[in-house]
Amino acid sequence: MQNFTFYSPTYFVFGKDTENQTGEYVKRFGGTKVLIHYGGGSVIRSGLLDRVKASLEKEGIAYTLLGGVQPNPRSGLVYQGIDLCRSEGVDFILAVGGGSTIDSAKAIAAGTLYDGDFWDFYSGTPIEKALPVATILTISAAGSEGSADSVITKEEGMFKRGASAEAFRPKFSILNPALTQTLPAYQTACGITDIMAHLYERYLTNTKDVEVTDRLLEALLLTMVHEGPKAVADPNNYEARANIMWAGMIGHNNACGVGRSQDWNSHNIEHELSALYDCAHGAGLAVTMPAVFTYVMNHDVMRFAQIATRVWGCQMDFAHPEETAKAGIEALRNFLISIGMPKNFAELGAKEEDIDKLVEVLCYGDGRTGTIDGFVTLNADDCRKIYQLMV
Ligand code: NZQ
Ligand code: ZN
Repeated sequence: MQNFTFYSPTYFVFGKDTENQTGEYVKRFGGTKVLIHYGGGSVIRSGLLDRVKASLEKEGIAYTLLGGVQPNPRSGLVYQGIDLCRSEGVDFILAVGGGSTIDSAKAIAAGTLYDGDFWDFYSGTPIEKALPVATILTISAAGSEGSADSVITKEEGMFKRGASAEAFRPKFSILNPALTQTLPAYQTACGITDIMAHLYERYLTNTKDVEVTDRLLEALLLTMVHEGPKAVADPNNYEARANIMWAGMIGHNNACGVGRSQDWNSHNIEHELSALYDCAHGAGLAVTMPAVFTYVMNHDVMRFAQIATRVWGCQMDFAHPEETAKAGIEALRNFLISIGMPKNFAELGAKEEDIDKLVEVLCYGDGRTGTIDGFVTLNADDCRKIYQLMV
């Protein structure tokens, strides 16, 4: 196991009606003037925004509002949010929504305290400070409610980049699984796929003998395989949604990723798809993962065979472990199709003729030098072949 430090100071408030305690927690963490940041309107329609406002008002906490975060959140709204926080003297940002809203909130939090262009942080400048951020989560997917990460789409060029900082860890996150019951089945399935990708991309490691994190990842994957279809079939299944919500958090706050190298090539390859076509990140991953895994399988066949037997129940073929590995990838693909995810470029809305452009931005955009690193280092030719496998 590699050396590591792990500090995950988020205070989690889990369960039914917990959003009504928002005001108490903002007060506890020192907020006096709050920016409530939200998306395209689901929190208005569900009545959640009104409950959050009432909870802040009960504690006498002032707030200002900024809605309109789009999925695959855009740089333009981040600039608006930074201006608003400065002009209104905001000292605390409350993201009410999904990963896009939370990531936009994190970008605003860092940008408000920075003299330069916030995009610097998404091009590698380290983040030293940010306004405190808290979240009320409405979709189990990105894991941003516990993570140190934020992903933003730059409107000039439409490409996505991530930034990471300890200052991005939310002060508190309110996780009420019932809030996810208004999600359409498709979005629920996109979230399940994203959570599974976060688990897979940690599982694909070059570090030896990391049994404890392997086993945690397997347990979380098995949870998704068992609970995911229940939530897709019955949106009101609170218990399934509760299991998925906590799995999504643990899966991405990195408790099960420490001490090991990780992959993230599927995420990098997918990010260009959701940036260019504005498809859901999870849907893009459903098409990307089987292609990447098929392409890199021979780098460590036994790792793929292990996940095939332990998670998908495949029979180990000791004479031909590559057959077991392939069966595991096929089982993943079939599972994702069974919950309603797309299986190829056409179903995702992606176009074969764009592959050169995708590869160019992926491998050379924004200062990259021709390769992406992960479980395997991939060059432009590898990435082109992987996109081709998705057609
Ligand atoms: O905008 P509203 O109206 O709220 O609708 C949203 C949006 O259309 C809707 N939705 C959310 N909760 C709902 C709901 N609709 C009905 N009822 C509810 N309870 O769902 C749609 C998708 O929301 P979004 O926030 O985009 O979803 P998600 O959480 O999947 O976030 C995706 C973003 O996270 C990034 C992705 O790249 C993508 O931009 N990621 C962030 C990570 C991180 N910060 O750690 C890691 C991830 O790997 C990922 O890359
Ligand atoms: Zn993801």
